[in-house]
Amino acid sequence: MSRPLAVICLAAGLGKRTRVSTPKVLLPLCGRSLAGTALRAVRELEPARVVVVLHHQMERVQAALQKELEGVFARVDYVDQGAPRGTGHAVQVGMQALAGFVGDVLVIYGDCPLMTGETLRELCELRGDAPCSALTAYPEDINGLGRILRDDQGRFVGIREQRDCSPEELAIDEVNCGFYCFDSEALRPALARLQPNNAQGEYYLTDCIADFVAGGAELPTLEALDATEAQGVNSLADLAMAQAIMQERILLQHLDNGVLIVDPGATWIDHDVEIGADTVIQPATVIGKGCRIGRGCEVGPFAHLRQGTVLEDGAALGNFVEAKKAHLGAGAKAKHLTYLGDATVGAKANIGCGTITANYDGVHKHPTQIGAGAFIGSGTVLCAPATVGAGAMTAAGAVVKPGTSIPDGELWLGVPARFLRRRGGGEGKQEA
Ligand code: UD1
Ligand code: MG
Repeated sequence: MSRPLAVICLAAGLGKRTRVSTPKVLLPLCGRSLAGTALRAVRELEPARVVVVLHHQMERVQAALQKELEGVFARVDYVDQGAPRGTGHAVQVGMQALAGFVGDVLVIYGDCPLMTGETLRELCELRGDAPCSALTAYPEDINGLGRILRDDQGRFVGIREQRDCSPEELAIDEVNCGFYCFDSEALRPALARLQPNNAQGEYYLTDCIADFVAGGAELPTLEALDATEAQGVNSLADLAMAQAIMQERILLQHLDNGVLIVDPGATWIDHDVEIGADTVIQPATVIGKGCRIGRGCEVGPFAHLRQGTVLEDGAALGNFVEAKKAHLGAGAKAKHLTYLGDATVGAKANIGCGTITANYDGVHKHPTQIGAGAFIGSGTVLCAPATVGAGAMTAAGAVVKPGTSIPDGELWLGVPARFLRRRGGGEGKQEA
């Protein structure tokens, strides 16, 4: 895009219809927040500036978004709208943060997480020399949405909020999605002229449209081909529906990349997960944000991979295995009924059925290290911190005490586990 771009994300609304204490724009959607998701969509447009307009629970929302968007944008400004007085007021506040900026101003909502960068790019390109381009749609449910007003030649002449509509206007099925690309130089004076002359006594951003038209402008509109992209989240039911749509997008992307997801309807994969080709994901598997899975791995059925778990090529996590911040080397296997938390497992190690890394002592989490080629017997409990050397072995049912370091190549057994003998035969030395 040739013109510099600024994005204003509106997120000062209260969102009381969700009935939960979490601020609406922080509700989780496939491992990201609603607002974080909405903002990420503009990353590919490489905006020069990003301004997020907040108010309710601002400190909490800002802190969460700052953390979530670290490294995503070079700079994000958070501004306080004060008591929200309408979308026009919110953009006025956003524009104050953009003093001196000249270029495209793209307005998005923090509670519309399904919008894609592709549609927004099209919206910006469509503007041309007009003061504004707007996104419209013909969704099934138009209740509560602003109606698109056109003259008898079909020209876009205004937006009327539902509460301000005449009966004829209410019948209009083309609605305003709330996404616009403005020319910053046309937007500023139009915002300054807004008046709260409407049923809600608010400053409506949508009144800028009629203002531009009165000034003789012709405004292009982009019809969202997929009306779901513009869907906002107002309730937990909306959230569930948005998650289902986002989940489908994520799964399709992995399928496209050559990941064999046996039953996409029974698989959950968060954002920010990498999976190599030829990996098979069996049903009832949940893979959390930030997991990295190599090529040719086997996962599930009924596996739960949590934050930051890494499987190198050819590793396997099978039935009823939970892994949290676990790192499995190439070809390492934990096929049944296992918990691996804060564990590093070397290449080709085999973790027997029912193995548990007891990583939590009630206060702190501790790491477990299992060397390459180790063989952990069924039902072993490794109380962390613990180390099992390369090629070492524990017998079935061993309980390895915290602080234990089993040397390479030794076989240990018992409760608590003690040295028995070298692996592969030979007499054991006495335990100290
Ligand atoms: C707005 C549009 C409507 C459109 C609809 C699409 C106006 C006047 N109306 O209606 O034409 O069909 O979106 O969803 O713009 N917000 C603030 N500060 C405010 C008010 C709102 O930040 O003072 C934020 C909200 O948090 C939300 C977004 O702006 O993310 C939209 O606000 P909302 O109240 O939902 O607008 P609608 O009345 O639904
Ligand atoms: Mg709304």
